[in-house]
Amino acid sequence: MPERDTEARHPGAFIAIEGPEGAGKSTQARLLADLLRAEGYPVRLTREPGGTAIGEQTRRILLDHANGAMLAATEALLYGAARAQHVGEVLRPALAAGELIVCDRYADSTIAYQGGGRGLPLDALLAVQQLATGGLLPDLRLLLDLPVEVGLARRFGAPDEVNRLDAAGIAFHQRVRQAYLDLAAADPDGWVVLDASGVPGEVSGLVADAVHSRLGLARLAATGAGEGARSGMAGARS
Ligand code: TYD
Repeated sequence: MPERDTEARHPGAFIAIEGPEGAGKSTQARLLADLLRAEGYPVRLTREPGGTAIGEQTRRILLDHANGAMLAATEALLYGAARAQHVGEVLRPALAAGELIVCDRYADSTIAYQGGGRGLPLDALLAVQQLATGGLLPDLRLLLDLPVEVGLARRFGAPDEVNRLDAAGIAFHQRVRQAYLDLAAADPDGWVVLDASGVPGEVSGLVADAVHSRLGLARLAATGAGEGARSGMAGARS
């Protein structure tokens, strides 16, 4: 991954939720955002590709089954384009405002899918990430991990949600999962790997425990905790 951004110290915190298909990331991102808001933290829930008007337009191109002719390099650059806009328009301003970002996928998705899955060279992908993010990295990445067969069965159980990348073969998704596990193993301080094969209520408990302990966030009462939350968060980054 790109070098950590040391110049732009910010008071907020950035949590990225990553994982293979069918891991329940979007549900868990929403549940985590709800929990942290109820605890009094200022939370920004967002996703990639997307999170901005330009990003959502790019998302439609990327996920459209009609775009089966898309080359791997095109795909990597479009994810990078959506990310650049997201970083500049949403993520950096939110962090500067002291918000706690919960982001459904970020740059590690490109390393896993376009690197592990499509086989594009890592150095080229890292260069694109550097351009797109300017070095902005998550404070914490949660890998919602589960066997590929289980994740795909969940996804294909809801055919309306199957997108262009879901429809890639099982070997592709095995490589994606392995790339994620390798990223997490290489940086145990930056990642928490969670078993996502349980029901949503079980997984959300694991997510909440990981976020509170790894970011040093206090578990705050559901009301009147805003100020305490802000100072607790600033402490987490010092
Ligand atoms: P989405 O419907 O959000 O899938 P999921 O619920 O699994 O996150 O679609 C996002 C798809 O884009 C998903 O298949 C993963 C893929 N993706 C990449 O291949 N590279 C990336 O950099 C990102 C952000 C997503």
